Amino acid sequence: MREHEEIQEKLIEVANRRYATKKFDPDRKVDDDDWRTILEVGRLSPSSFGYEPWQFVELDNPQMRQDLKPIAWGAVNSINGADKLLLIFARKDITYDSDYVKYMVQDVKRHEYDPNSKSSQAFKHFQETDMDINDERTRFDWAAKQCYIAMANMMMAAAALKIDSCPIEGFNREKVESYLAEKGVLDRQHWGLAVMVSFGYRDEPIKPKSRQAISDIYRTIK
Ligand SMILES: Cc1cc2nc3c(=O)[nH]c(=O)nc-3n(C[C@H](O)[C@H](O)[C@H](O)COP(=O)(O)O)c2cc1C
Repeated sequence: MREHEEIQEKLIEVANRRYATKKFDPDRKVDDDDWRTILEVGRLSPSSFGYEPWQFVELDNPQMRQDLKPIAWGAVNSINGADKLLLIFARKDITYDSDYVKYMVQDVKRHEYDPNSKSSQAFKHFQETDMDINDERTRFDWAAKQCYIAMANMMMAAAALKIDSCPIEGFNREKVESYLAEKGVLDRQHWGLAVMVSFGYRDEPIKPKSRQAISDIYRTIK
C-alpha cells in the first residue's frame, strides 16, 4: 500500500514539475536514452481506431530553427535554448477508403482490409455521421487532437525524467507549413502541422502552478 501511495505522490510531483518552460539552458543536451524513452511514450499513445495519425519530426537544423522565429512567436524561447524542437505533423487524409487506412489495417495491425467490411463501414459512419468529419479541415483537426495526446504523454514522461518542455501552438500555420513544404520537410497533400513541443533543461526556477480549484472543474452526476 505504501508503494501505491508513493506512486500517487510521485505522479502529482511530476505534474507539478512539468511547466511551460520559457528559458532553457542552451548548453544542456537531452541524453539519447532519455530521448528514445520520450519518443517511445509518444509512439505508444492511444489514437482513434488505432490509426496513429501522427509523425514526430525533430528539427535539428540551426538555420531552419532561426527561420521559424518570425513566423512562430511561441517557439522563440524554445529555439533560443531547448535542445529538441519537435514538430508534430497530423495526417489530413484519413478516410475509411484511404491508402493510409489500408496500410494501417493490413501492414501494421495485420488484419484483412476491405473498404466494404463491417469495421471499415463502422469507421466511415463514425467519421462522417457521428463526428461530422467530412472535409480536409475537420480530418486535420481530428488528427491534430490526437497529436496533442501524444504531446502530453511525452511532456509527462520528460518531466518524470527531470527534462523540461514547452508545448507550442504560437505559430502561423499557413506560413510555417508553406516554409516547411518549401524546404521539402512537409508534404502538405497528406500532412499538416498540428503543434510543436520543445524539450531541454530550464535555466530558471520551476513556475508554481496557478489553477482553478478541483471543485470548479469536476463534478459527479448521480
Ligand atoms: C496547446 C498549447 C499551446 C501552447 N502554446 C504555447 C506557445 O506557443 N508558447 C509558449 O511559450 N507556451 C505555450 N503554451 C503553454 C501555456 O501557456 C501553459 O501551459 C499554461 O499557461 C499553463 O502553465 P504551465 O504549463 O506552466 O503549468 C501552450 C500550451 C498548450 C497546452
